[in-house]
Amino acid sequence: MRKLPPIKLPLIFLFVVKLFFSLIGIANPPQDYKHSMVIQDDLKKAAFTVLDTKCNVCHRRQNPFMVFNERNMERRAGKIHHQVFVAKRMPKPEGKALTTEEKRTLKNWLLTQNID
Ligand code: HEC
Repeated sequence: MRKLPPIKLPLIFLFVVKLFFSLIGIANPPQDYKHSMVIQDDLKKAAFTVLDTKCNVCHRRQNPFMVFNERNMERRAGKIHHQVFVAKRMPKPEGKALTTEEKRTLKNWLLTQNID
């Protein structure tokens, strides 16, 4: 086998070390990243509880095409934001108003969504 020029060896070594650490990095995302995923998941669940208890109760009968679940709520984030916080049409007065805590929960979850 042809002998490698000595200058290439440290470079190859560095490359292998870098590759090793980048693979470890993929397998173990930094702790704060994992933590923020857990928080976002909890926030989504809390927001869904608000949608389910304060919105779905009425939509199920009066607007069945807008019943929220954990699969469609992200897609509808823009509409939810508009109806609740911009136009302030929802929840309709016949329904129960959102408590300060519920508004905060919904707002915080909406902040994790890309709304234009
Ligand atoms: C008492 C009944 C009632 C409650 C409570 C209620 N809604 Fe509605 N909602 C309706 C009805 C009826 C419509 C369809 C007619 C309309 O838009 O006025 C509607 C429509 C909507 C729409 C679609 C509007 C559009 O035109 O794009 C959204 C989004 C919505 N509601 C969000 C919510 C959210 C979020 C909540 C809870 C925070 C909520 N609604 C609570 C009755 C309700």
